[in-house]
Amino acid sequence: MPTTFTIKTYGCQMNERDSEALACLLEMHGFQEVHQEAEADVMIFNTCSVRDQAERKVLGKVGLMKRLKRERPDLVLGIIGCMAQRRGESLLQELPHLDFVAGTDQLQNVPRLVEECLARKGRPCAVEMGPGVFRELDGHRPGRLIAEVSVMRGCDQFCTYCIVPFCRGREKSRPIPDIVEEARMLAETGTKELLLLGQNITAYGVSEARARGEYTPEYSAFAELLEALQEVPGIQRIRFTSPHVRFMNRRFVEAVSSLSKVCPSFHVPLQSGSDRILKLMHRNYTAAEYLDRIQALRERLPQATFSTDIIVGFCSETEEEFEMTHEMMRKVGYDMAYIFRYSQREGTQAAKTLPDDVPDDVKHRRNQILLEELARHVKAANAAAVGTLAQVLVEGPSPRNPRRWCGRSLTNKMVLFSPDPALTPGTLADFRIVHATENALYGEPARTTPPCA
Ligand code: 5AD
Ligand code: SF4
Repeated sequence: MPTTFTIKTYGCQMNERDSEALACLLEMHGFQEVHQEAEADVMIFNTCSVRDQAERKVLGKVGLMKRLKRERPDLVLGIIGCMAQRRGESLLQELPHLDFVAGTDQLQNVPRLVEECLARKGRPCAVEMGPGVFRELDGHRPGRLIAEVSVMRGCDQFCTYCIVPFCRGREKSRPIPDIVEEARMLAETGTKELLLLGQNITAYGVSEARARGEYTPEYSAFAELLEALQEVPGIQRIRFTSPHVRFMNRRFVEAVSSLSKVCPSFHVPLQSGSDRILKLMHRNYTAAEYLDRIQALRERLPQATFSTDIIVGFCSETEEEFEMTHEMMRKVGYDMAYIFRYSQREGTQAAKTLPDDVPDDVKHRRNQILLEELARHVKAANAAAVGTLAQVLVEGPSPRNPRRWCGRSLTNKMVLFSPDPALTPGTLADFRIVHATENALYGEPARTTPPCA
């Protein structure tokens, strides 16, 4: 009987992707994935540190495992990912029933750590940061229509609120040929759409170019990567997350607006609409520069949609400064936004130098106002889509209502429709939008009239 494992994932898409790669790696080492915790011999928690709440959630969950471990002493429990990197050994001290800890650059060693735990050779803690961990981590579940591809790791931006540079280390980018090879392999197993991942993806290749002395403000290795992926047969669509305004130069704008496979929907984190707050956050752009980049994309791609990340209640944010963020939301008209209340993270520049002085109830209220603004815009934008045509990549039954099928439009809108034998998963088809709600568009296949004989 093979040893079984489960991985529970918290946090961002990068973690989702790491968990997928780790599951493939563990299977290569003879372990077998199960989806019921009760059936697992090894339970791994892939964790997030970005907000305090994310860490508390995992600590609560792993804390609950104490009883289970008493009943099943052979069970192996491990914490990996950002919180493992940040807290290291101290997790083993805090949680006596925890067996191992592996940091963000140690995923390739997890099979060995698990073996050590199964052989009762101690409670390993591996958190060293090292170069190049990608080779061993290119495993994918076969047959995914939409596949995530991690093109770089780490972050060199050091936004003052952010723990990521401490959890994931310095920026490291994979060579273009490796990524193209992975994309070809994915296309051969049925992938139609790529979602490229990087914490600071527009800085793809920048640290390597700097080291070679080749970096200029008009340089964009990311544009080169997109151009290379455009040529991969079978791949129909390319998306990516998350760009940083500082690196969205002319070269980048030209590439994303001229390459036919790059989808016209962009996630561009704003964080704040106030220049003073942006400066305190160390974002390296002003609200006007941000709008200028959005405008540049909109001029070339009038149909483009935008989504964003916003933090409310950052240190010393006044009501007027919050209103500037609100105003930016109105100006850009986001189709989706993640809105966060500022959470102080130990070790960051903000935690060291700026008091977390916006009261919780104010953070809550500001959050609520922006959520309402978002809902208003999305409702109006979706209603305006009724009557238009949308190209959809058919995915299959909707997870919420299997009697309907779903897929995403080029602009990343969920489109629901009645199942149709001609519309198999992976088909690209045009739909006429006949109805809209805040959450989805409802479409009917757009039947084109055959040309006259
Ligand atoms: N508090 C609140 N939100 C944060 N984010 C990052 N760090 C913090 C923090 N300390 C948000 C940012 C980022 C997203 C991934 O998480 O908006 O873009
Ligand atoms: Fe969370 Fe950031 Fe780590 Fe992703 S990279 S899991 S968002 S701390």
